[in-house]
Amino acid sequence: MKIGVLTSGGDAPGMNACVRAVVRSAIHYGFEAYGVYDGYKGLVENKIRKLNHNDVGQILNRGGTILGSSRLEAFKQKEVRQIAIDNLKSKDIDALVVIGGDGTYRGGMALDEMGIKVIAIPGTIDNDIASTEYTIGFFTALDTAIDAIDKLRDTSFSHQRCTVVEVMGRDCGDLSIYSGIATGAEIVITKETGFNREDVINQAKRAQSMGKRHLIVVVAEHITNVFDLAKDIQKHAGYESRATVLGYIQRGGNPSAFDRILASKMGVHAVELLKGGISGMAVFTKSLEIGHCPINEALEIKDEITDLYQYLKKLN
Ligand code: F6P
Repeated sequence: MKIGVLTSGGDAPGMNACVRAVVRSAIHYGFEAYGVYDGYKGLVENKIRKLNHNDVGQILNRGGTILGSSRLEAFKQKEVRQIAIDNLKSKDIDALVVIGGDGTYRGGMALDEMGIKVIAIPGTIDNDIASTEYTIGFFTALDTAIDAIDKLRDTSFSHQRCTVVEVMGRDCGDLSIYSGIATGAEIVITKETGFNREDVINQAKRAQSMGKRHLIVVVAEHITNVFDLAKDIQKHAGYESRATVLGYIQRGGNPSAFDRILASKMGVHAVELLKGGISGMAVFTKSLEIGHCPINEALEIKDEITDLYQYLKKLN
């Protein structure tokens, strides 16, 4: 089997680790691996080349994607996808692993329906793919946002200010709510919480009356203009206020330990699905649930040997 791999949509830390895992595990199982450069755009433009074991060396720890990425509106058109399929067929590539967000999934599904075996892997900082608990890149972006908000807190506290900070996430509030919780933000505003300017001002006034020296307000992107909100809080709630948009810094940087491991496991899993003749699937993770059990049972449960060992040999 010949397996292609591409990254598409907004780049996310850990995509490289996943590309590496797909390529190395494909080779481990005796398949050929092909990199498709610049996402679906590159697939249509035939930017495809064979990747060997060493081609994916030194990338596990790197942010961004060595394959490049793009967003291609025209990929919704069947004629455009047909060009992509012809390009794959000209190289006898029969399967494709696509790493990205929901747009990437839709493109992959359409290709699968047209006869290419596709496996989709969730790679986006937004964590907006419902089928998986976490997407590759989310926790690294979260660490970046937390680091930035911690720094904003230092200056906010020193000057007794309100800091309004805009966090990415497209239409999903996960980056905002997680970073809000992790940094102790007083107010978090997302699509899920809803936004009412009056309520926010009243919350800020309440904080002021409680003697809170400063205030952190985390706002998910596309909800409201954070600079205007900061002005309103300053005018009506008594805090001198500033706004900061974290922006694209959240997309970059070396992937965290969690993202490297998640990406490696998902990459191997995708290849194993293809090896088993399975396609049209989206890989997911669902394990970090919170539950409870009696303490005596907790003491009796034996630790299972981590399954990470079975991945190791396929990645080296
Ligand atoms: O999907 C990742 C993301 O960074 C979103 O958080 C953001 O809304 C969007 O991509 C920005 O897209 P672009 O890179 O096209 O400006």
